[in-house]
Amino acid sequence: MNDLEALVQGAQADFAAAPNPAELENAKARYLGKSGRVTELLKGLGALTPDEKKRRGAEINQAKTRIETALQAAREALAEAELAAQLHAEALDVTLPGRGRGVAGLHPVSRTIARIEAIFASMGFDVAEGPEIETDWMNFTALNSPENHPARSMQDTFYVDVNDAQGKPLNLRTHTSPMQVRYARNHAARHAGVEPMPEIRVIAPGRTYRVDSDATHSPMFHQCEGLWIGENISFKDLKFVFSEFVRQFFETDDFDVRFRPSFFPFTEPSAEIDIAFRSGPLAGKWLEVAGSGQVHPNVVRNFGIDPERYIGFAFGMGPDRLAMLRYGVNDLRLFFENDLRFLSQFK
Ligand code: PHE
Repeated sequence: MNDLEALVQGAQADFAAAPNPAELENAKARYLGKSGRVTELLKGLGALTPDEKKRRGAEINQAKTRIETALQAAREALAEAELAAQLHAEALDVTLPGRGRGVAGLHPVSRTIARIEAIFASMGFDVAEGPEIETDWMNFTALNSPENHPARSMQDTFYVDVNDAQGKPLNLRTHTSPMQVRYARNHAARHAGVEPMPEIRVIAPGRTYRVDSDATHSPMFHQCEGLWIGENISFKDLKFVFSEFVRQFFETDDFDVRFRPSFFPFTEPSAEIDIAFRSGPLAGKWLEVAGSGQVHPNVVRNFGIDPERYIGFAFGMGPDRLAMLRYGVNDLRLFFENDLRFLSQFK
């Protein structure tokens, strides 16, 4: 084998062995670069006689052409390999089933509130919403809570660093009861001079806040207020309405309701409403589901309504608690941790 044949075969082997374009270009430089082997050979031609130069020059150029052909082939092979690798990496398995769009679902507490609203709406109740940041007057004073009532303490209530027009700090409402006042005052103003005043029948669901946190208490929780005021509304109406609500909400007749004497500043008399299922996993256990009572005359007066003429009842219940009972959930915090593995079970 002459020197040129060896050179060509060496270049072919080097090019074929280059694992990537960068290495291939390095190999090319060793043969065809400015000081590459082929270039050096061509430079050496100058020392030859014209005849030798012609023959040798033609041989070197032939070798050079073969080396360039090998280079081109190696470039194409690398480009092809790269394309193949890319196609492989980006391969789509068109036989996989489509992922589709996730189906959203209502939060179990929202679902419960929607259910409460639908049931009370079917009994002629309006649904109202109001602010979660309340004035001292709406949350406490109008509801007949004395200045020194423990519910007003820093330990029980979140206060906001902003004062209301009376110079009292705003608070995160501790219950939905201020909605009794807001709704009734609007109602009274809207129907001023109308005799008799049309009845007030409303529920007001929403978020409420207290400094409290354990398995059955969350600093943010939900309440749903109820208010029914008219000329002749009594505890028997409350008992009927609430029993009817429980019957529809839990889809059973198999329960008892009891009113247990209690105290709230804004109702007199006051009662806790307990229910007990007669069958099922909770059978025989009295479960407290709402506070209630006949609205105190002072509060009716703060509604802007004559307490000598109009009377009625209010109740406040916990949709979170109702959701726990309905779905068999034993830790309130699960509702507010936003773990989709929990929440998506209610879709
Ligand atoms: N606001 C009371 C509470 O948060 C519940 C209640 C509402 C009681 C209406 C009586 C009447 O505990």
